[in-house]
Amino acid sequence: TDVDAIRNFCIIAHIDHGKSTLADRLLEVTGTLGHNQKNAQVLDDMDLERERGITIKSHAIQMHYPGADGRGYVLNLIDTPGHVDFSYEVSRSLAACEGALLVVDATQGVEAQTIANLYLAVEAGLEIIPVINKIDLPSSDVEGVSRQIMDLIGNEQEEIIQVSAKAGIGIDELLEAIIHRVPAPADYREQPLRALIFDSVFDAYRGAVVYLRIVEGRLRKGDRVRFFANNKVFVADEIGTMGMKRQPCDLLEAGNVGYLICSIKDVKDAKVGDTVTLADTPAHERLAGYQDVKPMVFSGLYPVNSDEFEDLRESLEKLSLNDASLVYTPETSAALGFGFRCGFLGLLHMEIIQERLEREYHVQIITTVPNVEYRVLRSNGETVLVDNPSKMPESAVIAHVEEPYVKVQIITLAEYIGNIMKLSMERRGEYKNTDYLDTLRVCIHFEFPLAEIVFDFHDRLKSVSKGYASMDYEYIGYRQSDLVKLDVLLNGEPVDALSTIVHRSKAYEWGRKLCQKLKGIIPKQMYEVAIQAAIGSRVISRETVSAMRKNVLAKCYGGDISRKRKLLEKQKEGKKRMKQVGRVEVPQEAFLAILNID
Ligand code: GTP
Repeated sequence: TDVDAIRNFCIIAHIDHGKSTLADRLLEVTGTLGHNQKNAQVLDDMDLERERGITIKSHAIQMHYPGADGRGYVLNLIDTPGHVDFSYEVSRSLAACEGALLVVDATQGVEAQTIANLYLAVEAGLEIIPVINKIDLPSSDVEGVSRQIMDLIGNEQEEIIQVSAKAGIGIDELLEAIIHRVPAPADYREQPLRALIFDSVFDAYRGAVVYLRIVEGRLRKGDRVRFFANNKVFVADEIGTMGMKRQPCDLLEAGNVGYLICSIKDVKDAKVGDTVTLADTPAHERLAGYQDVKPMVFSGLYPVNSDEFEDLRESLEKLSLNDASLVYTPETSAALGFGFRCGFLGLLHMEIIQERLEREYHVQIITTVPNVEYRVLRSNGETVLVDNPSKMPESAVIAHVEEPYVKVQIITLAEYIGNIMKLSMERRGEYKNTDYLDTLRVCIHFEFPLAEIVFDFHDRLKSVSKGYASMDYEYIGYRQSDLVKLDVLLNGEPVDALSTIVHRSKAYEWGRKLCQKLKGIIPKQMYEVAIQAAIGSRVISRETVSAMRKNVLAKCYGGDISRKRKLLEKQKEGKKRMKQVGRVEVPQEAFLAILNID
């Protein structure tokens, strides 16, 4: 293919504005997708993604499109994750493109992630094609949404393409816009090879399948390739482009997008954002923009059965291939035994990993309450990073504690400003200012401690705004805060996995509510269980779970055998997620109880 017949683009959109539907439609119209597959959302090929309706991992797919000018074009559509947790991956996908379709739902208008992703695309120097989707809906407001878009990117009305991805309206016009407005890649074929990894997936038979944009040079089948991040050399066993399936070829040239399989077994060797070059005639510098991603949220993951520790390690190792952002180190908890402290980009990322561990790798895990990473300055001048509340030094040796802060933008209707202000006050938010996007919609700017928004802030925001709010956040650095460690004791024994770090002003209320919550979760046992919350050695709250009166099985005596067996099985099932903490059986829920406190 001629370089100037290639177009590399992505679709950026707020969640649910129709990215997947539009991608499918493009695949269908270009004949990439067989007609029998019409209804499958082909770009989201993990169950989980479909269920959540969120594109988690980016992939690339190649389409062939005969332009109205009679020329054959190659269109590489690079899928990008739409959620704030994955903004680094989004930025790497964008770096593999020359253009972006900015899709906005005609019934919803511009949302927080529309803006956040737009900024990333503009930063990456992409040509933006604004697209208004869902124009088939009676409630669509094409004019109003056009104005919002024009305000945002300063384009002309005529440059906005109106489509219905679902009804197939405006798709031809969009394809023509892509070939005419998205620039062809620069022709850097004669340079030494530099290819950008924007994604990688693990294939049980082939090892890592690395998705890359050849930015400069040529990659041939059989070449010895070197990865900058670790200097390791591999042989390119297979290269090719992605249609609905992998299509092997012998040569990938600068400007194109494809995949590389080179028997990478160690899952950490193909990091998103890294550069691949040739081992024998290497480029000297990696491509710009590589970042070692930094996890923002941490949680302990422990196998329910302690003999599954090695399985958990292997599963985490595999998962971390797709995910340069997943980090984990072994840790031990007095309460939970051997496990891992894992770092995630955000709460959604954490949930996804937990679900995949259970679903795909069949490891049953107990997770602890997620926390951010604190910076503790000791009285002796030493600074320590604390990613596990139970590791917080004694208050006597602490000079001060700092916590990460984020800049938050919330887009909503003006009528919900009051509710959102109230919510932000509960979460220690600092109001900055408000911009009016039009007569109804506002963008409110805040600064928040990250710890206050990682838990359930997004859900709360949706509920106080009846769904009419979207948010995005960006890390801004550490600030000093008056934080204390809140411990939980069961029958006088501190349970390290239940410790949390909270702002002093909230500690009493949290302690009380947490004890109440735990009382509802911890089942009755053969003896009384005392639940206490404490700051240092001071107990601030107490609840008691009274002792069990009857043996559950007693009911069954005289009854038929199968009922008794069923009950036993049920009890066993329930116990699977129980951890013996000292003499007390504690269910998984208890370790997350604090998440549901309000
Ligand atoms: P995420 O993957 O969650 O980011 O969502 P998405 O942006 O990929 O949205 P998706 O394509 O899943 O579409 C969201 C919903 O909008 C689905 O129920 C689609 O059927 C619907 N939808 C998408 N495009 C159109 C359209 O042009 N018209 C109408 N009426 N509905 C549409």
